[in-house]
Amino acid sequence: MTDAQLNKEIECRRTFAIISHPDAGKTTITEKVLLYGNHLQKAGTVKGRGSNQHAKSDWMEMEKDRGISITTSVMQFPYKGSLVNLLDTPGHEDFSEDTYRTLTAVDSCLMVIDAAKGVEDRTRKLMEVTRLRDTPIITFMNKLDRDIRDPMEVLDEVEDELKIACAPITWPIGCGKLFKGVYHIHRDEVILYQTGQGSTVQEVNTIKGLNNPEIDAAIGEDLAAQMRDELELVIGASHEFDQELFLAGELTPVFFGTALGNFGVDHMLDGLTQWSPTPMPRQTSVREVFANEENFSGFIFKIQANMDPKHRDRVAFMRIVSGKYEKGMKMNHVRLGKDVRISDALTFVAGDRSAVEEAYPGDIIGLHNHGTIQIGDTFTQGEDFKFAGIPNFAPELFRRIRLKDPLKQKQLLKGLIQLSEEGAVQVFRPLDNNDLIVGAVGILQFDVVVQRLKSEYNVEAIYEAVNVATARWVSCEDDKKFEEFRRKCSTNLALDGGNNLTYIAPTRVNLNLSKERYPEVVFTETREH
Ligand code: G4P
Repeated sequence: MTDAQLNKEIECRRTFAIISHPDAGKTTITEKVLLYGNHLQKAGTVKGRGSNQHAKSDWMEMEKDRGISITTSVMQFPYKGSLVNLLDTPGHEDFSEDTYRTLTAVDSCLMVIDAAKGVEDRTRKLMEVTRLRDTPIITFMNKLDRDIRDPMEVLDEVEDELKIACAPITWPIGCGKLFKGVYHIHRDEVILYQTGQGSTVQEVNTIKGLNNPEIDAAIGEDLAAQMRDELELVIGASHEFDQELFLAGELTPVFFGTALGNFGVDHMLDGLTQWSPTPMPRQTSVREVFANEENFSGFIFKIQANMDPKHRDRVAFMRIVSGKYEKGMKMNHVRLGKDVRISDALTFVAGDRSAVEEAYPGDIIGLHNHGTIQIGDTFTQGEDFKFAGIPNFAPELFRRIRLKDPLKQKQLLKGLIQLSEEGAVQVFRPLDNNDLIVGAVGILQFDVVVQRLKSEYNVEAIYEAVNVATARWVSCEDDKKFEEFRRKCSTNLALDGGNNLTYIAPTRVNLNLSKERYPEVVFTETREH
């Protein structure tokens, strides 16, 4: 493969995820995006919602039925000469580590805002996460077919609360029953909205030029006059789009529309494919790795179980960072220092999900995982480095987990360890007793774990309160000092799912005391995989 060929593949790729508050319209937008990607003849049927069992078991059926590529995790589709990878983030409301790690695998994000509600809680949290890597953000103001708030006010709210400058690319003409379409500021044209076309690609009806009298005829003189007045104000008062600021995560282009009415999603996609970055370089323990390097490299950001409920298959999702994946190629699994031949990686392109012949930077491939692959693992073509920045967070919530049937202890442990490898939850085994302590970042994780233990591992477990307030991973360069610490603090020490030593503290005061007493020991709140 020549450099030019590899560059061509890289140039056309865009990898993004959607961030939004529940109900803002993420699922609906995903449907319409796929409609534009020509994968669905008729949108309105993708139900990948949440992480419930129903959605998961639907997955294979759906794929077979429609010959489309859709998992609850990754979708790839062509759009006007680009190849777009859309990564789904988990549907449930708690901020989860899974979401965080998915956001490390994309190059840009689409932020969907319900324009009637403005900036909501989860959007705020997710934006904080994208900030850690200055991910470029595109904004879609949704539900214009409803009565929304003053758009200028919503933009101000985004700027104030999320600390990102807004550059409107389109501007809405009316809203609710009076929603007539948008004025595309860059193209200087009015694009008219037609109702009742939510599940097809609409025939586009445009009028060139802001002062074109055809606009008055189409939407009425009053609304046309109002629109012109508003635009004068908006264009004067808002930021102009600036590619550099966008790429630095400091400015977001804003589009208006209705996902349900399938209007505006294509304008957003045009912006995304035009402005979003091609697959970006990634930092490793040794150096920065660029997409167009000849040698293959990638990292695992997610492990998902039971994508096919008939087989207990677990798939490790790899983001390709550099080079080219070819079926049957040999890769080095860096953490294990072992070469593996990968001949059955999955992609999520239309058609047969088990037949990926080749894949490129920005793409996500799935590796069958029989317990050897962990989140954060790096694969290379021999070079010894590790991709940085895929952390575990110290959990904030703890419960002791106990079996209803004590004979199934082994299965419980196996289930918990697998779920912790997946990042669904964290598990701690105290050195001094046989308890199993489950740690979570969000409260919903506890319910999910009990449900999954039951359905996937056939064990019924219940929770009990446990006297743990916080946890920190511990390490120390001085072996002797560490040994002493281990001996003296053994009642507070546990191993996590990956056998890393952890200090579990009954109170913050206790934690602080131990930190003071053992200054050589490093207590960390996040642990890179
Ligand atoms: P989410 O994935 O972000 O949680 O949101 P989702 O797409 O499921 O949308 C949440 C609700 O908002 C859905 O209604 C959906 O139909 C509606 N919706 C999405 N986009 C628009 C829009 O542009 N205009 C209007 N008016 N509604 C929109 P639901 O009744 O909760 O679900 P469903 O019964 O339609 O599935």
